Amino acid sequence: MNGSFRERSIVFVGFMGVGKTTVGKLVANKLYRSFVDIDREIEKEYELPTTEIFKQIGEKAFREKEKNIINNYVNQKLKVISVGGGAFLQEEVRDACINNCIVFHLDISWDSWKERLSILVDSRPVLQGKTIQEIESLFESRKATYSKHNSKLMTDNQSEEEIADSIINSLKLAWELYD
Ligand code: S3P
Repeated sequence: MNGSFRERSIVFVGFMGVGKTTVGKLVANKLYRSFVDIDREIEKEYELPTTEIFKQIGEKAFREKEKNIINNYVNQKLKVISVGGGAFLQEEVRDACINNCIVFHLDISWDSWKERLSILVDSRPVLQGKTIQEIESLFESRKATYSKHNSKLMTDNQSEEEIADSIINSLKLAWELYD
């Protein structure tokens, strides 16, 4: 991307329900940037919730739309972007994000994450119809998916506000050092 490192958009990636959207909104507010949630953008285009897009149109079309929308935003400056937990399964998406933005991987331990399962399952088609063991292996296998990042944060036992503040501090340091 052209333009300065300081103006690069910030991307949040990580497993479903880790807090990408909440943290992303907080970081966007603190930096006076606009926030984009890619899942919401996909839902707006289809005028359907994600579960219905998976059911009626299929995951393949969802992934294609996800890739196209992300490709459009990563080339814009000064955004904070939250991408869905499956977006980095596509190499093109991983590369587009890492080449044009600053990518934060929000991580969480399995023990903390599994407490959230019941509130996530209705809106996350990828979790539906799976046993807890299957979900745990998905959780483990996705770790490699998120390995392409600029910075990783373990979110266990931290409030969203604390996570957002530590991201801002890390960004300020990077901007001072590299710009
Ligand atoms: C998915 C994660 C979801 C959403 C879709 C598929 C995935 O986003 O994109 O349900 O495959 O991990 P969140 O990570 O925001 O829940």
